[in-house]
Amino acid sequence: MNRVRLAPSILTADFGHLADEVRAAEAGGADLLHLDVMDGRFVPNITFGHGLVEALRKVTSLPFDLHLMVVEPERQIPMFAGLVQTMNVHIEASPHINRTLSEIRRLGARCGVCINPGTPIAAIEESLSDVDQVTVMTINPGWGGQAMIPAQLEKVRRLRAALDALVSNAEIMIDGGVKTSNAAQCAAAGASILVCGSSVYGPGGSVAENLAGLRATLG
Ligand code: DX5
Ligand code: ZN
Repeated sequence: MNRVRLAPSILTADFGHLADEVRAAEAGGADLLHLDVMDGRFVPNITFGHGLVEALRKVTSLPFDLHLMVVEPERQIPMFAGLVQTMNVHIEASPHINRTLSEIRRLGARCGVCINPGTPIAAIEESLSDVDQVTVMTINPGWGGQAMIPAQLEKVRRLRAALDALVSNAEIMIDGGVKTSNAAQCAAAGASILVCGSSVYGPGGSVAENLAGLRATLG
C-alpha cells in the first residue's frame, strides 16, 4: 500500500502569520496543503478565495488541494487554474457534475468530488470513473475542530470496494476530525489522503510535532 499522505488544512492556522504557518507545514513533512474555500452560502462560514491562494503559491512548493465549499463551483474553478494541483467540488452543489469534472481536467488539475455525511455513495456512483479522488466528509462541513462522525468510516470502506470493483485508482481523502487517535483507522478503511486541520494547527505541539505525531500513528 502506498504511503498515506497528510494534508494540513490552514482553516485553523493563524491567519495573521499565514506564510509562516504554511512554511512550517512544509518543513514539518506535510505532503499537500488543503485549502478550504467557503462562500457563506453552501456553508455559513466565509474563508478566502483565489487571491489568497495565489499569494500562498509564492511561499511554498507543496501541492495545493482545493476544497470548494461554494454554490455554483463551476464559476470559481477557472480562477484557481494554474494555482492548485487538485480541485474538489461537492456533489451537493454540482448538478452537472460530469461537465464540472471535465472542466477541471481541461484546466489541467486533478479532479475530485466530495460527499457530505448525509449523502449516500449512490449520489456519486455515476462519477466514480471520472474522478481522481473522492473526499468523504467525516464532519458536516463549515468549521474545523469538530469530532469525526465514526459511521463515515464504514462509508469509506464501501466506497473503496466500489472503486476497486471498477479497477479505479482514484484516491479517497478523509476530511474532518482526523487525529492521532483515529488516523490509522482512516488509513485501514481505505483512505490514502488525510486532511488534518486542528490536529496540526491547533492546541498542542508545534506544527512539526503535530505532523510527526500523526505520521507516527500511521506506521
Ligand atoms: C471543514 C473543512 C476541513 C477542516 C477540517 O469544513 O473542510 O478541511 O479544516 O478541520 P479538522 O481537521 O479540525 O476537522
Ligand atoms: Zn476541507
